[in-house]
Amino acid sequence: MDLNDTKIVAFACTYCAYNAADLAGSTRMQYPPNVRIVKLLCTGKIEPILLLEAFRHGADAVFVAGCMEGECHFLQGNLRARQVVEYTKKLLEEAGIDPGRLEMFNMSASMAQKFVEAVKTMTERVREHGPSPLRRATNP
Ligand code: FES
Repeated sequence: MDLNDTKIVAFACTYCAYNAADLAGSTRMQYPPNVRIVKLLCTGKIEPILLLEAFRHGADAVFVAGCMEGECHFLQGNLRARQVVEYTKKLLEEAGIDPGRLEMFNMSASMAQKFVEAVKTMTERVREHGPSPLRRATNP
């Protein structure tokens, strides 16, 4: 599969992961250009329906990137986000979609390399498993 054709959606907390992504870009770190970032005030706002909609709209992989555990600006938003991600993985599995296409990462605003690694990890998973079956069904 052409990795440039891979679609990855990242739901990123504005305080940490979004800034880490920005830092990665401004310091010219190399990572696959196939990620689309959705900025959230806190990952605690994530809901299963948002994750599933990203897949329905053609994402091959989705990840949520929040502050380090214990450092969420809204106390436990990132802990809630991890629970939502784990729950949604079960829904994906029941729907016959590899739950590895969804992941949660934690990072601080200065961890640009960790954001880069998250994108590479998810891109590699898509490379291994191919395009999302939902995408194949909607774009034969
Ligand atoms: Fe960053 Fe909650 S403020 S995950």
